[in-house]
Amino acid sequence: MTIGKVGVLGCGLMGSGIAQVCAQAGHDTIVLEATEELLQRGLDRIGKFLQGSVDRGKLKASDRAAALSRLRGTVRAADMADRDLVIEAVTEDLAAKQALLGAVDAVCPPRTIFASNTSSLTIAQLAAATRRPGRFIGLHFFNPVPLMNLVEMAPTFLTEEDAIAEAAAFVASLDKTLIRTTDRTGFIVNRLLVPYILDAVRALESGAGSIADIDRAMVLGCGHPMGPLALLDLVGLDTTLSIAEVFFEEFREPRFAPPPLLKRMVLAGMCGRKTGRGFYDYGGTSPVPNDSLTRSA
Ligand code: CAA
Repeated sequence: MTIGKVGVLGCGLMGSGIAQVCAQAGHDTIVLEATEELLQRGLDRIGKFLQGSVDRGKLKASDRAAALSRLRGTVRAADMADRDLVIEAVTEDLAAKQALLGAVDAVCPPRTIFASNTSSLTIAQLAAATRRPGRFIGLHFFNPVPLMNLVEMAPTFLTEEDAIAEAAAFVASLDKTLIRTTDRTGFIVNRLLVPYILDAVRALESGAGSIADIDRAMVLGCGHPMGPLALLDLVGLDTTLSIAEVFFEEFREPRFAPPPLLKRMVLAGMCGRKTGRGFYDYGGTSPVPNDSLTRSA
């Protein structure tokens, strides 16, 4: 089977990016959100990114229009009924993912492949919420999805070979690089990345340096495209906290434990770029380090 019709569950940061790259790659794409308001916000994000690409001279206006013509939003799970592939990209909450996967599974034919973009949860457990564990796989994208070249593919011990091959061909159609990993918590990237960004918060908490200097250190000293605290703001502090909690539960190693400052910031509603405030304030023309955090840490 060739994948032509794609459904994306969730139009947040990751879901909107995934829906965008699917539509840009020529797939007929439907993205599902819980409410019209959330859907509109996600579709606006896609429109803005594509316009930014046109403004930068990286995309023709006609290609932007063509991508948008292949993309539509819905708030009805029933609209997923004719999809070849459904990619789940909702919030990192096991119960929410299981409930939605179960509802969409009920309307899709047996041939439809299901994939999850989870960063931390067990793929086999998500597959168990459907009647198709043989056609369920992990496909993990990176934020910002249109700019990041990698997809981690994580089959479970139940995923069938033809579903693996179809999923791999689909990733190739997006012009992204695929690496194959296994259904182990964090796959490859997050297993290495999460302790690093959590350690950056601990470095800040312990007074090793200011927010700006910790970020500058890793950009200028190690050649990273952005520092760990700016990256946390990009990924989302709430998302990172959920991931750290799952990792700590799984591995019981202190390096995966969420630092108190991270928890407090999430409780205060400072989730990074998505809420306009995190380690930096995003209200002005350029991000300003939130130095009051270190005073209260
Ligand atoms: N359309 C097309 N291209 C665009 C664009 C748009 N709308 N917006 C930006 N770009 C391009 C720019 O033109 C530029 O390209 P060139 O280098 O060819 O000129 C490039 O993207 C970088 O853009 P900027 O310089 O404007 O932006 P930046 O310096 O702030 O970089 C970034 C953006 C790609 C996010 C870069 O900082 C980066 O790679 N950061 C690291 C991101 C990362 O690590 N992501 C993974 C997070 S972990 C995760 O996602 C997994 C998980 O489970 C938690």
